[in-house]
Amino acid sequence: MAREVTHDATGPTPIDPDDHDGDIYVCSCGLSDDEPFCDGSHAVTADEEDGVTYKYENDDDEEPRHAVDSLEYDE
Ligand code: FES
Repeated sequence: MAREVTHDATGPTPIDPDDHDGDIYVCSCGLSDDEPFCDGSHAVTADEEDGVTYKYENDDDEEPRHAVDSLEYDE
């Protein structure tokens, strides 16, 4: 089973669960290798263009990001 999930956030969500140790940063972009925590991978989204959908494929080091026309789903 596989799942496609889309994200439009370009940075983490700070949360402070205990009011003592400061904020922790939860990944909201979907690109972190340290989920659920932000590892800074969202930096690659900085130059994304409005209105364009991107697909990131971490198995391609030279071109990990591709603009796609749309994501098609089977019903
Ligand atoms: S928000 Fe996803 S890596 Fe930072």
